Amino acid sequence: MTLDPSAAGDVQSPADKSRIAKAAAEIASGYASDGAALELGTVVVDGVVDPSARVRIPLATVNRHGLIAGATGTGKTKTLQGIAEQLSTAGVPVVMADVKGDLSGLSAPGESNDKIAARAVETGDPDWSPVGFPVQFVSLGTDGIGVPVRATITSFGPILLSKVLGLNGTQESTLGLIFHWADTRGLALLDLKDLRAVITHLTSDEGKADLKGIGGVSAATAGVILRALVNLEADGGDTFFGEPEFETEDLLRVADDGRGVVTLFELGAQAARPVMFSTFLMWVLADLFQTLPEAGDLDKPKLVFVFDEAHLLFADASKAFLAQVEQTVKLIRSKGVGVFFCTQLPTDVPNAVLSQLGARVQHALRAFTPDDQKALTKTVRTYPTTEHYDLEKALTSLGTGEAVVTVLSEKGAPTPVAWTRMRPPRSRMDTIGDAGIRRAAASSTLQAKYGQTIDRESAYELLTAKVSGAPDTDPTLDVPPLPDLPDLPPPPAPAPEGPSMAEQVLGNPAVKSFLRSAASAAGREISRSIFGTGRRRKR
Ligand SMILES: Nc1ncnc2c1ncn2[C@@H]1O[C@H](COP(=O)(O)OP(=O)(O)OP(=O)(O)O)[C@@H](O)[C@H]1O
Ligand SMILES: [Mg+2]
Repeated sequence: MTLDPSAAGDVQSPADKSRIAKAAAEIASGYASDGAALELGTVVVDGVVDPSARVRIPLATVNRHGLIAGATGTGKTKTLQGIAEQLSTAGVPVVMADVKGDLSGLSAPGESNDKIAARAVETGDPDWSPVGFPVQFVSLGTDGIGVPVRATITSFGPILLSKVLGLNGTQESTLGLIFHWADTRGLALLDLKDLRAVITHLTSDEGKADLKGIGGVSAATAGVILRALVNLEADGGDTFFGEPEFETEDLLRVADDGRGVVTLFELGAQAARPVMFSTFLMWVLADLFQTLPEAGDLDKPKLVFVFDEAHLLFADASKAFLAQVEQTVKLIRSKGVGVFFCTQLPTDVPNAVLSQLGARVQHALRAFTPDDQKALTKTVRTYPTTEHYDLEKALTSLGTGEAVVTVLSEKGAPTPVAWTRMRPPRSRMDTIGDAGIRRAAASSTLQAKYGQTIDRESAYELLTAKVSGAPDTDPTLDVPPLPDLPDLPPPPAPAPEGPSMAEQVLGNPAVKSFLRSAASAAGREISRSIFGTGRRRKR
């Protein structure tokens, strides 16, 4: 089981043995904690594992966040699984994206074999036995295999939506203006067609007058945004937005037996659009930030949030987006929420965020290319100094299911660097399969609440309904036609003759009066907080 080829556990001299035992004990002493802790595994020195030298994250510092990194196949997901299991056991709910579907195994007991049994003993867990955990499967929109969850456009806000749409800075600020306009008028944008209706209005001659005083929206930029919206709809994104909106308190659930519920966002067939998932999770986090009270220092976190494939969150992100991630991560800690980022390279995470992550679980890195080498050198520099390991060598020679670890002790100080053999998860290390996930989702208590999409009155419906005396409108026309832009895909329904639907709607005096009265309705203005996400409207 030894991994460093230069080490051979059974031919060590007594002097070596005692040196290794001393080093392991010294490292482990930095991980002692009075309160409960998440057991990660045990210390390895010179390829020899010491089952008594435990490496752990105190539950009290889990809200100081963490990073789990490593090349593909090195054990990141199993590490997450083990952490989620122990959080659940401690009564802490967990939220994770199940990018590859393998985390669904959390819901079923694992299978024992000689390898697992040996690893359990080596890692200080001789009582290992298979256990399944309470798992809630959700999916974004209605095309997934879990319980469908959605957010409204208003609540999602312009920054997150820009990230999903892949907009640049200029387009992002234009979208911000559009939201601002709708917000000040208390116009609820529930789904994508609402946003399209508003953009179409604002780029009309009529709308240009509305925009006076808050800035301008160029037709070209609006066209790009509309096109991006059309693409998102074509990808099935229209089912992500709408009602019933997901209430993030549903993530803070504890099962009848007192264990924390693990909520898994299943990507399933939608894995093609993972950026939507990471962004949606960021919305959830921002919403939690708005709804959770200040918690101060707690013995254990209220909730732990895991961003798997975190590079998707940061790649091509705007400055505004990055600033908001940084801010959210910084502030959510005081609400008792811990955030773990999981990615291949620590350099995938911006420094401002990285520096706030108290726990580091770094699985093996590859050093094939000059870029790899650079990332490796940079990673080494983020660790406290250690006399026990050559970190550059250690990071490239870790075995599968091993990691170089440093966390924050109960006192908040970085713990000694520990080459750690990780404990085996107690639940299944493989997917339970689509059918299993569907079955679990179908019997979920959340199904009644979120199973059916509601299409209630919002900007689009209100605007269209106000066309008094309008003849029976074409029932196939459920989206306003797009403005005349050369390289737009064709609208989903044939455009009517004469004035467009939007023109009819927005040119109507009743609509104008509606817009005015919506604006003046006391307390209806939608306010935005962190991340530009909207305050949840009281139902
Ligand atoms: N703690 C562990 N205990 C037992 N086996 C492990 C452990 N960690 C990893 N393994 C073994 O290594 C395999 C790969 O681990 P895992 O799926 O966690 O890798 P990963 O880093 O998530 O890879 P990817 O980037 O491809 O998702 C597992 O299927 C399992 O066999
Ligand atoms: Mg994985």
